[in-house]
Amino acid sequence: MKRVSMCCLVAVVLLVPLAAGFAEDTKYEKGGPKYLYIKATKAPPQHPAYDKDIKCQECHVYAGVDAYTAATMTLKKSKTGALSREEIEKRIAEIVKGKGDYREIYILSTAYKNKPLATPIEFVLDPRTLNLYAMSERQTEKLFHVASNQNVSCAYVKQLEHHNYFKEPLSIQVVGKAQLLRGKDPGFAEALNIYLPTLPLKLTPELIQAIKETKIVTKVTPERIIIRDYTQKEKGNRMVQIWERQDKK
Ligand code: HEC
Repeated sequence: MKRVSMCCLVAVVLLVPLAAGFAEDTKYEKGGPKYLYIKATKAPPQHPAYDKDIKCQECHVYAGVDAYTAATMTLKKSKTGALSREEIEKRIAEIVKGKGDYREIYILSTAYKNKPLATPIEFVLDPRTLNLYAMSERQTEKLFHVASNQNVSCAYVKQLEHHNYFKEPLSIQVVGKAQLLRGKDPGFAEALNIYLPTLPLKLTPELIQAIKETKIVTKVTPERIIIRDYTQKEKGNRMVQIWERQDKK
């Protein structure tokens, strides 16, 4: 009897610190770990331009945003080098348009029960609203994700052939809400108007009918878009530009 309880005690003494150590590694505190923060002692030459009346400490603190965007989103405080909403909207359309239409390949991130999935997918941008439209086969994994969780993020990166991405980045990051549309849903017809002309197929009435009956449209309504655009730097603007949806009442 005594030996058994000794064993138990040893097990508890050994296992409790192990479990505590594990919990320590996986626990996420508000604001995240300290080592993720910039020590604002000296701003490097490549530092984004900002209004000089803002103190370093105002931007290099936890500001209630997630860890990844914590630095970028501080730029909202500063006007120096920022484009207007209209200019950002125009630039987003220009970036994805290239020489052709507004159809481009993005990586769409979805999450199902807290597990992320990144899917390469073609979206067509509506340059008037910045909404994105994709068309998918039924039963694909991302659709199950979106059906369970409307929160999505997608990103587009211009793969530069003659430039160095490190020096001359061109990318768009979208955070928003996704919606699945079937042929009979309101909004499907509008989606087709934007999507179909970009399809590299002959649009016969049979094909259009088949699309209406079998395909699912994923419509992404952006809430926030961040572009990283090297051409802005050449114009004396900030490379990073932030656009946010303004709810119209
Ligand atoms: C308006 C907000 C803002 C202010 C004010 C600001 N910063 Fe920053 N800082 C940023 C952002 C955004 C980045 C991240 C840039 C990027 O995307 O790489 C950054 C990055 C940095 C970096 C890291 C650069 C790197 O390449 O690793 C340092 C160091 C830094 N800032 C120091 C400072 C100091 C010192 C001051 C004050 C003199 C200051 N910052 C003021 C927003 C700000």
